[in-house]
Amino acid sequence: MKATVVYESLTGNTEQAGQIIARELTAAGIESVACPITEVNLQALSESDLVVVGSWTDGLFFFGQKPGRSGRLAKLPVIDGKQAAVYCTYALHAGKTLDKLSRLVSNRGGEVIGGYAIKRSDLEAGAVEFVDRLLGAVDATPA
Ligand SMILES: Cc1cc2nc3c(=O)[nH]c(=O)nc-3n(C[C@H](O)[C@H](O)[C@H](O)COP(=O)(O)O)c2cc1C
Repeated sequence: MKATVVYESLTGNTEQAGQIIARELTAAGIESVACPITEVNLQALSESDLVVVGSWTDGLFFFGQKPGRSGRLAKLPVIDGKQAAVYCTYALHAGKTLDKLSRLVSNRGGEVIGGYAIKRSDLEAGAVEFVDRLLGAVDATPA
C-alpha cells in the first residue's frame, strides 16, 4: 500500500506535520511521500491507495474558520475511489475547518475516512496520534 500526503502551508507548520505523517506512515509499512499542493507528485499520487490532505486554519480565531487558501485545495487532482484522510493545523480553534476540507476532498472523488486537527504547539504528538488513528481506520487490503 502507498500513500501521498498533500499539504497547503503558509508558514511551515502544515508542511512539517505532513512530513511527520509521511514518515510515520512509511514506518508503519505504507510507503509515503509528502508534497505541497502547488507541486503535487502526480506519479506518486496515481500509485497511492491513500491520500492525506492537510491545510492550515484560516479565520477570525473563534469564528468563520476554513482551510487556508482553499482555492488551491479545490484544484487537487481527481482522486476517484481512493481512500482519503484530512488534517489541519491550528492555533486556538479549528472550528469547521476539517468538515470543509473533507467536503473539498470528497468533491475531488476521495472517500474520506477520517480527519484530525493538530495543534501547532505540538505538531509531532498531534501528527503521530493522527497516524495511529488512521492506521486503525484504513483498509489495507490490496486493491
Ligand atoms: C490569516 C491567518 C488566520 C488564522 N486564523 C486562525 C483561526 O481562525 N483559528 C486558529 O486556530 N488559527 C488560525 N491561524 C493560525 C494558523 O492556522 C496556524 O498557525 C497554522 O498552524 C499555520 O499553518 P502553516 O504554518 O502551515 O501556514 C491563522 C493564521 C493566519 C496566518
